[in-house]
Amino acid sequence: MTEQDFLPKSYSNFPENGFVKWKAPSNIALVKYWGKKPVQIPANPSVSFTLDSCATTTSIAFQKKEDTENFSFDFLFEGKPKEDFKPKIQTFFERVENYLPFLKTYHFQIETSNSFPHSSGIASSASGMAALSMCLMDIEKQLNPEMDDALFYAKASFLARLGSGSACRSVKGDLVQWGAHKNIPNSSNEFGVPYPFEVHDVFKTYCDTILLVHKGKKQVSSTVGHNLMHGHPYAETRFKQAFDNLDALKPIFAKGDLDAFIKIVESEALTLHAMMMTSMPYFILMKPNTLEIINKIWEYRENTKIPVCFTLDAGANVHVLYPSNHKEVVLKFIDEELAQYCENGQYINDGVGQGAVKING
Ligand code: PMV
Repeated sequence: MTEQDFLPKSYSNFPENGFVKWKAPSNIALVKYWGKKPVQIPANPSVSFTLDSCATTTSIAFQKKEDTENFSFDFLFEGKPKEDFKPKIQTFFERVENYLPFLKTYHFQIETSNSFPHSSGIASSASGMAALSMCLMDIEKQLNPEMDDALFYAKASFLARLGSGSACRSVKGDLVQWGAHKNIPNSSNEFGVPYPFEVHDVFKTYCDTILLVHKGKKQVSSTVGHNLMHGHPYAETRFKQAFDNLDALKPIFAKGDLDAFIKIVESEALTLHAMMMTSMPYFILMKPNTLEIINKIWEYRENTKIPVCFTLDAGANVHVLYPSNHKEVVLKFIDEELAQYCENGQYINDGVGQGAVKING
């Protein structure tokens, strides 16, 4: 499928009004996307675990309107109008209008809420843009009931990508790959695809406990961070490394080789932050407690031989990754040794999930 497939020909049906509701999860990248070209085209391919409990639920009530010149929508976040989010939606609508030509036909009442605590430092843009895109695709499906599932999900991922790059990996589960790679069939810069190769059962139920080290706003947004990869002295080497890591992961995912998995995942996390520290201007998103946690995880792994590892997103929080058969002991370790480094001792137990779901009612 290509971008051209996402331009609808015509609609057979225009309902007066309707209501759709979807829940979409967050995701955590194992091979990181960092650096992009216009518009939201990744500089390198990435792969992520789709999460389960960290999710955004969005509903849209839509009603036909007279004026078809302008976008019209209300936006409510956790039950309250949120004006400062409206420009983001406006920009998103402008960006996707060609692909969803019904956007000016209706007034939309958009309501959204997150399962994770407000301002937890967990990026809600991935789950938020994925949930919004699923709702818009559900509306388009009512206008064009012939659309098949393959197009429905690929286009939802495509729209989510135009909202926030990594959001395109939140539409499906459980392992999603995004970005053209010559050795990965059907891989695309335009949308995420379910990882197409064999995946060992151990990865199907992998756990991710998110340690909330710093809940405040990041000093540097990921948009700024991506842009700093232009002219970055290590950019080309880094992009190549991501391609190579995807190749290296193929037998690792198939065999369930956890030692090799850990090496790539931790190296990817530290490389992401190394890119930030070597940008111009340079910046650091890790906090002292991020490093305390990393050292504790390494010490624990060395002492117990339990295959627990970490990854980081563009922030100070730590994602602790481990196979579900070690859940009990790892949760004890987190509670006794790592929770002290979290703001108010807070962390979220999550794990691999299956992607966006429609909510009835
Ligand atoms: O989707 P964005 O623009 O917020 O970028 C996300 C980048 C990382 O989370 C750091 C890595 C990734 O692949 O998700």
